[in-house]
Amino acid sequence: MLVLGIETSCDETSAALVEDGLMIRANIVSSQARLHERYGGVVPEIASRAHLAAILPVLDEAFAQARGGIGDCACIAVTNRPGLIGALLVGVTAAKTLAFLHNLPIVPVDHLQAHLYALIMAAPQVKDPLVALLVSGGHTALYRLKSPIEARFLGGTVDDAAGEAFDKAAKLLGLGYPGGPLIQKLAMEGNPRAVDFPRAWMEGACRFSFSGLKTAVLYRVRGQGARPPSIVAGRGGDAVSEGPLAHREKADIAASFQQAVVDVLVGKTREAVEAEGVDVVGVAGGVAANGPLREALKDLCGRKGWRLILPPMHLCTDNAAMVAGLGGALFAAGKAASLDFDAYDHAQEVLKSSES
Ligand code: KG4
Ligand code: ZN
Repeated sequence: MLVLGIETSCDETSAALVEDGLMIRANIVSSQARLHERYGGVVPEIASRAHLAAILPVLDEAFAQARGGIGDCACIAVTNRPGLIGALLVGVTAAKTLAFLHNLPIVPVDHLQAHLYALIMAAPQVKDPLVALLVSGGHTALYRLKSPIEARFLGGTVDDAAGEAFDKAAKLLGLGYPGGPLIQKLAMEGNPRAVDFPRAWMEGACRFSFSGLKTAVLYRVRGQGARPPSIVAGRGGDAVSEGPLAHREKADIAASFQQAVVDVLVGKTREAVEAEGVDVVGVAGGVAANGPLREALKDLCGRKGWRLILPPMHLCTDNAAMVAGLGGALFAAGKAASLDFDAYDHAQEVLKSSES
């Protein structure tokens, strides 16, 4: 069964053709990062317009690479939540139009669940339940994944997402966007123990907070009197003098910041795996591309004897292959929708709250 997947929730326009939920025949990703770079984050209106310009060429390229046509597809899967509404609507409208014209079933897909599905694509042979750490630009959460389409929310961030913290720290250091890869690169020249940034070991299982760390980076870069720290928490260490930071100092801040994020992500994942009594761990989402995080998780799982699923980089950051893969599984489970479904800025309740 061949599925067309479409992804436009944030700043990547992507179309993919995936066979039987696993075999990627094409996965075209057009990144808008350069358009948003000067703003240090994604500008929603620019994102929507760029998706509009890219969606048809990206679809054409996907079909050309897969050597197939829309007539070969059993259904169309499209991300309809969570994300920027204007951006989502471009993909949703393209998908609905194709479904209407070609009389194909359509499956709306939750972007977070699609990130989790990347773990299935990376390790289809693993059938045991696993604990998945989902770390992206907009979300940081832990899930128990029972099957490709059944995820139980264990807990998440109470404020910023890990990727958002990377992006904001990079902006403070004047590095550009997206911040994660830039911080990682600069951190290679720095000392991860140079600055004692705060680690928020939130009480209660699986809870994260990164806003205190962000404020600590702000103080470190601009001095203690810097504004506007919305939430102040933890120890920020001594402020460096105002004015441009030396390259060496920036590298130390980047390395120490990255170490603080990795410590918390790995520590919380370890607690969740132990509490759930499983022995398989997965990491998904854009921040899962982070080298030191991958190494720290490998180290943890090696020591504990746990199996680790690390999807390849192109399945960690936003892509439509994970959308097509999950869409195929949802379609097989009877989850096709009528053409009047909407786009939403928030995730399905079941993926963000343990109450439902
Ligand atoms: O999953 P994703 O592509 O988009 C969302 O769904 O948000 O994640 C994007 C996030 C950005 O915040 C970006 O800075 C971060 O992933 N990211 C990284 C790395 N590559 C991307 N963070 C840390 N290290 C990386 N190598
Ligand atoms: Zn994403």
